[in-house]
This record gives sequence, C-alpha cells and structure tokens, in this order.
Amino acid sequence: MTNIYQMGLPRRVIGGAGSISQLSALAKDSGAKNIVILTDKGVYGTGITAKAEKILSDYNTKIVKDVPPEPEYNQVLNIYNKVKNDNFDMIVAIGGGSVMDTAKILAVLFTNPAYAEDILNPSLIKNRGIATVFIPTTAGTGSEATPNSIVVVPEKELKVGIVNSNFIPDYVILDAEMTLKLPQSVTASTGVDAFCHAIECFISKKANPFSDMYALKAISLISKSIRNAYNNGEDISAREDMLLAAFYGGMCIASSSTVAVHALSYPLGGKYRIPHGISNAILLPYVMEYNADYVEDKFKDVALAMGIDIKNKNCNEISKEVINEIFKMTEDIKIPRDLKKFGITKDDLENLVEGASGVTRLLDNNPKPMTKDDMRNIYLKIV
Ligand SMILES: NC(=O)c1ccc[n+]([C@@H]2O[C@H](COP(=O)([O-])OP(=O)(O)OC[C@H]3O[C@@H](n4cnc5c(N)ncnc54)[C@H](O)[C@@H]3O)[C@@H](O)[C@H]2O)c1
Ligand SMILES: [Fe+2]
Repeated sequence: MTNIYQMGLPRRVIGGAGSISQLSALAKDSGAKNIVILTDKGVYGTGITAKAEKILSDYNTKIVKDVPPEPEYNQVLNIYNKVKNDNFDMIVAIGGGSVMDTAKILAVLFTNPAYAEDILNPSLIKNRGIATVFIPTTAGTGSEATPNSIVVVPEKELKVGIVNSNFIPDYVILDAEMTLKLPQSVTASTGVDAFCHAIECFISKKANPFSDMYALKAISLISKSIRNAYNNGEDISAREDMLLAAFYGGMCIASSSTVAVHALSYPLGGKYRIPHGISNAILLPYVMEYNADYVEDKFKDVALAMGIDIKNKNCNEISKEVINEIFKMTEDIKIPRDLKKFGITKDDLENLVEGASGVTRLLDNNPKPMTKDDMRNIYLKIV
C-alpha cells in the first residue's frame, strides 16, 4: 500500500525550442499590464532576456537584473523594497534557480505585504501571488515545477527551503534555446543537481507512483545527454533532454522529497557558499554508496534507466555498477571528487555535521537512517 501522495502543478507548461515566442500569449491570458522581467547579470549578459523584452514590447515592462547568485533572504527582501511600489501584475523570471526562487517570494510579497515581516515563515502567505511565468535557463533545479524556494540564512550559516503551494508558477516555458549559452561547468553541476533530484526522490521514503515515473525518465534523459550537452553546448537535442529532465526532477520534488545528498549539501552552500549543483554533485556517489544496501531493488530500475546491462547480475553487483556509473558520469563532466579546492578541511567537519543534522525535513526521508557519525564518515571522504 502506498501512503497518500499528491503533486501540485503549474497551470500551463509550454515546451519546445523557440517556445519563448508564446510569452505574449501568456501575458494576454493572465490579463497583465505591468510586467517585471527578473533575471541576474550573468543571464542578462548573454542577451537572451532581450528576446523577452522584444516579445513583450506592447506591455509596460521593466527589467530587474540584480538577483545575486544563491540569494540570502534579506537580499530578496531588498529587491522587493526596490520594486514594491511599481504596481507589477506579472513576473517573468528568466534564469536559474536563484532567479526563480527569488521570483517566487516576490510574487507573493506583492499580494501579501505582511509576509515581508518574516519571509522565512510561509504561514504568513494568505493570498495567491501575482501572475508568474518561469523560463529556466539552467537545466538543473527544476524550481519551475516545485513549491520550494531556497534561500541562505547567513546568521544560521545554512540554506533554508521555504515551502508553499503558492510558489508554484502559473506558467512555465521550457525553451532549450535559452540554455545554449550555459557555460560548461554550470551545465555539468546543474545537470547533476537534476540527476540528484530524480534519484533521491526515487529512493526517498516519500517516493510514489507520480515521482517514480518522472524520476526514471529524468535519470534516463540525463544519462543519455549530459555528456553531449557538456561537450557541445550548442547540441539543441541534448539541451532539450536536459531541460526536460530538470523539469521532471522538479516534478519529483513536488510530490516526493530529496534526501541526504541535499541535506548534507545545505551547510556547504549556507556556510561555505559552494554552488548548490557542485556540492550535490560531489556528495552524490558517496551518499548513494551509503544507501545502497537499503535500496537494492530500486537500484535495479535505476540501472535500467541509466542504460546499464543487468543481465546475470545480482542486486549487489547492480548497485555497484550504478555507483560506478555515477562516478564515471561525474568524472566525464569534470565534477571535482572532493572539497579541497574550496578550502574545506577536517577542521570544518563538526560544523558541517551540525549543519546537516538539522535538515530533518530531508533527512527523515532518507531510506537508511543516518547518524551524525555516518554524516561525518561521508564528509570525511570528500574533505
Ligand atoms: N526551488 C527549488 O526547488 C530548488 C531546487 C534546487 C536548487 N535550488 C536553488 O537554486 C539555486 C541554484 O540555481 P542554479 O543551479 O540554477 O544556478 P543559478 O541560478 O545560481 O545560476 C548559476 C550561474 O549561471 C548563470 N546562468 C544561468 N543561466 C545561464 C545561461 N543560459 N547562460 C549563461 N549563464 C547562465 C547565472 O548567471 C549564474 O551565474 C540555489 O540557491 C539552490 O539552492 C532551488
Ligand atoms: Fe537541488
């Protein structure tokens, strides 16, 4: 018997290369008049936001491009304070998780000014936000499909996931052309982040028939295309596979939950500011190794999705193959094996363990119980 499960969905999702052309139809559909295009300097610098400005030339638009990478909650609040009197009725978020997560909070702040008192407390959100269109430009977080917004809380040296169903966007445009200029290293780390979402949600205690279907498809698309997207950024069909896989990974989060990879990653982002995709990618094979004996049956399905030949192999051999293949995949796209280049040493271990052990929202869903000693042993492998 499966526990009760559910998945909240965006109202409309449009896919396909060039689908940003549908943006004006979405603005019309929502009845918007004053539109803010939210992005960051990196994305703006590639020129892809200019496409949106052109398509929306019949509307009052303003571009706000100061979303910082992996924002702190107070930085999100600063952006809100700059735009709150502008009477916007739609946000078009063009960027990766940093931009989309900021857009989620902004959209509800416009209709719930009291939420500005404490944006870490989603119970203050009473009303649906202004209309949102999310156009992901990394293929990683899947934030366009999730009710989560992740912010850094500097005073706690941690990242925190704020979860609220009003954070699910109204419209999503999955246009792989928007990802063609994504640099190699970001393609690699965000692609593995999407892989983490899929495999973690698949082995999670919250896994269910909805998330299982999207997880296996995402694992298969990423296994097939991540190397091509990394080696040839202009390979549009590899980019399409990755963008779809990232969205599917987000759908997995929307009904299941990530587990210990993300939990152990949070203090690496919160205190040491290692980019989210990179810390997850470094942790992934070791956390899977740790969990393997609890999820051997599931690893059989993962192996098939990854294209691994499982004929005449027992469960234990299959698990080892899955972990080897994950090591190979991350090696081929030049993910570092450890945290040395980030200056993290054994002296940081206790801080990391303390930080991770507080992420019970995710750790409680890890298939194999994890003590502080277990966490320490995993971190020890990567410092
Ligand atoms: N809400 C969720 O469900 C969820 C899930 C996972 C992660 N996250 C959060 O998302 C954030 C990370 O997002 P991310 O990994 O997408 O990275 P990001 O949004 O921080 O972007 C990384 C870098 O890539 C650049 N970039 C993005 N798209 C580009 C493009 N097409 N061409 C050139 N450069 C481009 C950006 O300017 C930035 O410098 C973290 O804060 C993480 O915690 C959220
Ligand atoms: Fe993630």
